[in-house]
This record gives sequence, C-alpha cells and structure tokens, in this order.
Amino acid sequence: MSLIRIEGGKPLKGRVDLKGAKNLVTKAMVAALLGETPSTLLDVPHISDVDVVERLLNLHGVTITHDPKTGDMTLDPSNVEQARIVDIDAHAGSSRIPILFCGPLLHRLGEAFIPGLGGCEIGDRPVDFHFDVLRQFGAVIEKLPTGTRLSAPDGLVAAKINLPYPSVGATEQVLLSATTAKGLTELRGAAIEPEIIDLIAILQKMGAIISVDTDRVIRIEGVKQLKGYTHKALFDRNEAASWAAAALATKGDIFVGGAKQIEMMTFLNTYRKVGGEFEIEPAGIRFYHPGSELQPVVIETDVHPGFMTDWQQPLVVALTQAQGLSIVHETVYENRFGFTEALVKMGAQIQIYRECLGGNPCRFGQRNFNHSAVISGPTPLRGADIRVPDLRGGFSHVVAALAAEGTSNVSNVQLISRGYERFIDKLQDLGADFQIEG
Ligand code: EPU
Repeated sequence: MSLIRIEGGKPLKGRVDLKGAKNLVTKAMVAALLGETPSTLLDVPHISDVDVVERLLNLHGVTITHDPKTGDMTLDPSNVEQARIVDIDAHAGSSRIPILFCGPLLHRLGEAFIPGLGGCEIGDRPVDFHFDVLRQFGAVIEKLPTGTRLSAPDGLVAAKINLPYPSVGATEQVLLSATTAKGLTELRGAAIEPEIIDLIAILQKMGAIISVDTDRVIRIEGVKQLKGYTHKALFDRNEAASWAAAALATKGDIFVGGAKQIEMMTFLNTYRKVGGEFEIEPAGIRFYHPGSELQPVVIETDVHPGFMTDWQQPLVVALTQAQGLSIVHETVYENRFGFTEALVKMGAQIQIYRECLGGNPCRFGQRNFNHSAVISGPTPLRGADIRVPDLRGGFSHVVAALAAEGTSNVSNVQLISRGYERFIDKLQDLGADFQIEG
C-alpha cells in the first residue's frame, strides 16, 4: 500500500490504542543481546522499524518470536554469532538502530560490522558522537565502503565521557557499551528522555548498576554478566502527540488508550495554550478540539524535558488553523521543515527562516539552515497531491489532507508504517474518509 485518496473535512473521532514506544523497543531488543538468558519484551508494536531490528538480530543468531496482536516478544541470545557481511549489508539504509549493535556485539564477539545507516532525512544525522564514544571504550574502528568494521579483542573498558550535545542515540550507545565494560563509566551531558530512563530500567533488571544523577550525569559500574529481562515497554508518547494534534487539526475528538500524563507534560502544556482540550484518565488521555478558535503559540523544540522535535511536525498542521502568528524554532535537527512545502501547496501560510526565532541557544544559528518557521493562521486547507517525505512529516501530511476541503492523493504512505502501528486501520477506526489506491 503506497497511495491513499483522502476526502477531507471530516473530524477524526473515536479511540486508538498505543503500544510500546518505537524509540524504546528497538533499543530494548538490542539490549537483549547482552543477556546470557532469554528476554521478554511486552507491548512491542508491529512496525517496520521493529522488523528491521528483528531481521538484524536474527542474522546474529538471536531467535525471536513476536505475536503482533499482543505485542509479546521473546528474544533468545544463547547462540549469538557473527553475521555474514553480505547479509548485514542487505539492510544498509533501512534504519539507524544498527549503530547500537556495536557495544553489545563487541562484548559478545569482540567484533562487529555495521551497515550504512538509514532513517528519516531530517538533517545530516552524523554518528561522530557514537564512534568517539566507542573509541573511548577501546574499540578500533575501520570505515569500509560498505559499512563500518569494529573490533575490541581485549574487551571494552570504562571511560569518562562528555557528550558535546545530549544526543539520545549516543547516550544509548554509552549505556549499551558500559554496562559490561571493565570499571566505572561516567557520562556527562547525557540525554534523559523517558525512553532512555526505560532502557536504564531494563538494564537494571538485567543486572546492571546505573545511577542517573543531577545535571545530566549518568554513572555505570561495569558488571561481568547480565541476564535476560521481562519488561513492558514505555508507551509511545510520539504517537500519542501525533493523534492529539490530529484531533485538533480536524476538529475531532480522540481517546488515546495507553497515553500517560507525566511523560507528556510539556506537550500537554503547549496543547492547552493552543486551546486544545484534554482529559487524563487511568486508561489514557482524551484529546479534543474546544469548538472555539485555536490560539497561536511560540515553540522551541529541545531535548527532554523540552518540547520534543517529533511533536513539532504534527502540531504545525493544527497551528495553520490557529488565529494569528505561531513561531516554531527547531533546535534539535537542522532540516525538519521540508514537510511544510506540501502544507503551503494546500493553502497554509508558512514562512521558513534561517535565523533563530527564539531565545534558546541553538547549534544552527550562525549556519545556513532553515530551522525556524512562522505560521500564519487560520488558513483553510484544500486537497492536493502530496508525497510523504519522512515519518512524522508524513503523518502531518495525512492529517493535513484529512483537515482539508476536497480530495488529496497521498503517496509513499507506507513510510508511515515505520513508526505507526496499524496506521490505516486506526484511520478507519476514527472515521476517516479514504480509499487505498495502490
Ligand atoms: N548528532 C550528531 N552526532 C551524533 C549523533 C547525533 O551531531 O553522533 C546530532 C543529530 O544530527 C541531531 C542531534 O544530535 O541534530 C540529536 O540527535 P539524537 O542522537 O538525539 O537523535 P537520534 O538518537 O538519532 C532519536 C529518535 C528520533 C528523535 C531524536 C530526538 C530513535 C530511533 N530516533 O534519534 O526519532 O527525534 O532521538 O529525540 O530513537 C522519530 O521517531 O521520528 C525520530 C526521528
């Protein structure tokens, strides 16, 4: 399924249920490589990013069962082995997760081969922090035309690491490398997203000793051995925010089963400022349009506990319907406004600027990146032919098409299933008017 024809102008109403967070489960699956015994991960969504990691783990000898309905997954790493480079290479460009295989494979096998990485094109997305970290643990890294070969025949040793930016992936790299490295690792400048805290909880269940101190300092005392874990994955707060934005943009009312307040507080504050209504219940959060005008807001995306970059794209669609000027300053990725071109084609008034339109210190300020947006609303949206550019941008395009008057043909929709489970079914459950065309 790659093309859907959407008849817009109908509010999304009903219930969707979340499973575990894409940005946790894929890492939790990699963590299972470190255990001496099998692990069980609960609430694993059936999305293509999970499939990619599953196939890569299979290639390395991990036996996996996954019930897509319940989300129960078991991972047995008893027979971990080096995969054939040609097999690994077949997965080049499909995901960014393979970079996190480095530490666990170096521990288990003394060597690793990582294919060229993929993921959404929302910036340059270098992996320099990852390789710097691995070198500090004692890994030898060799770049090949097809990928990267790493070795650590004498094992990894603890290090004192200072990240130049609280990168989620680099923090995970440190955690997955340090838990069984010799000695005490101290990480400064760590990311502290809830998905990272959940990964730490998993590692603690496995036998790791990790403390999260104030000021982004994480200390990891290396242990000799880890065992398998049983863990229910943290809910997907990015998916929750996406449906919340969809409710607002389409004047709808969506109950998001499994969404929780604490991990979404920053989002909820902004949602309220825009005028969105929500009710927090034990089973989830109901998000709905107030019935009156939406208000403009100023947002600066940031690392946790700031406003997540992944929330920005779906919310921008709702902001095209707010009364006045909204400003979004993207400080995490340098190129995450490409998706607005399609919104402009549909009638939105959005200007993109190179300048920092905000007060937060930003790495992109003096450089030639389009990383600030001014959205002027309300502007009626009209149907158009659009192509999904990336995961969150793609979700936004579909929401824009649902909010617009008239017909839209949205192509490349399959990309959305990288991170949204049963996306098409959920649209159906919410009463969206669309047809699958190809
Ligand atoms: N960066 C570097 N060098 C590195 C690593 C990162 O310069 O070695 C830069 C990146 O280019 C970016 C910034 O640091 O500008 C932040 O990157 P980070 O490492 O924090 O992001 P990530 O681990 O690659 C994860 C999520 C993203 C999410 C970000 C921020 C996964 C698989 N991906 O990416 O999710 O936006 O953290 O929270 O966990 C998505 O779900 O659509 C998505 C893109």
